[in-house]
Amino acid sequence: MDDEWEVANSRLFSRWGEKRVHDMARRHEPAIIFFLDHMRETHPDILHGKHEGKTFSILDVGCGGGHLLMALVKKHPSILNHARLTGIDIAPSMIGMAQRVKGELFKELEVSLNQDALAFKYQNLLELKREECQYDIIVSLESIYYVSDMDQGLSLIHERLEDGGTFIIMNEDGMMKTGNKMLDQKRLIELKGEIDVKYFHFLSLQQYKNKLQETGFQDVCVKAGKGFHFIIAKKES
Ligand SMILES: C[S@@+](CC[C@H](N)C(=O)[O-])C[C@H]1O[C@@H](n2cnc3c(N)ncnc32)[C@H](O)[C@@H]1O
Repeated sequence: MDDEWEVANSRLFSRWGEKRVHDMARRHEPAIIFFLDHMRETHPDILHGKHEGKTFSILDVGCGGGHLLMALVKKHPSILNHARLTGIDIAPSMIGMAQRVKGELFKELEVSLNQDALAFKYQNLLELKREECQYDIIVSLESIYYVSDMDQGLSLIHERLEDGGTFIIMNEDGMMKTGNKMLDQKRLIELKGEIDVKYFHFLSLQQYKNKLQETGFQDVCVKAGKGFHFIIAKKES
């Protein structure tokens, strides 16, 4: 782990927590819609608790203000009766915001739900403990390329998945290398002065696929839509 790198990103996103989180949520909406559709098509068991007695678990790595998991709960509130949803992030202000919005969401839903089934924690992916629980699904929305040691991050994600579990990476197209271009020029101008590109990994889709396969993931497949790429990978059953 590169401490300087992790501290720089934690500071950057703590600042963003105050002013950019809602913009980010809007910008990431196509990815959230993709995730909800993917869950409906491939994991109705998790959404509707079809296995009596089983508690499913989902981890959102680099959850920011928590809007991905919150959208899932809003759409399928009863998921909280049979699943544990956890978001982790290294920016304390993002986690503070996610916890506040969670309070508002539970009030809005006006149903008696298991509050602890949705949790947001200040936690670095690279310090995810081995003794922590296993997850059925791990998702990373615009976050994996900020992790200083991506190889270690991917190994930890692989380790923490249940056998047969799914890992989903959702990245904006501009944040991945296409041909020789490092970053979409328009996006680079937008981000100039905000993000230090020194603390970023720019990989192409093929490099993501190779890394996932080298980590031990199987059936790596890619889908594209509305400015995003979605990379879905499986852990062997
Ligand atoms: C561009 S934001 C995306 C946030 C959220 N997924 C969303 O879509 O709004 C990237 C997030 O990754 C988090 N992050 C970066 N490195 C991390 C690490 N090593 N462990 C956990 N979170 C990390 C940042 O703090 C930041 O909140």
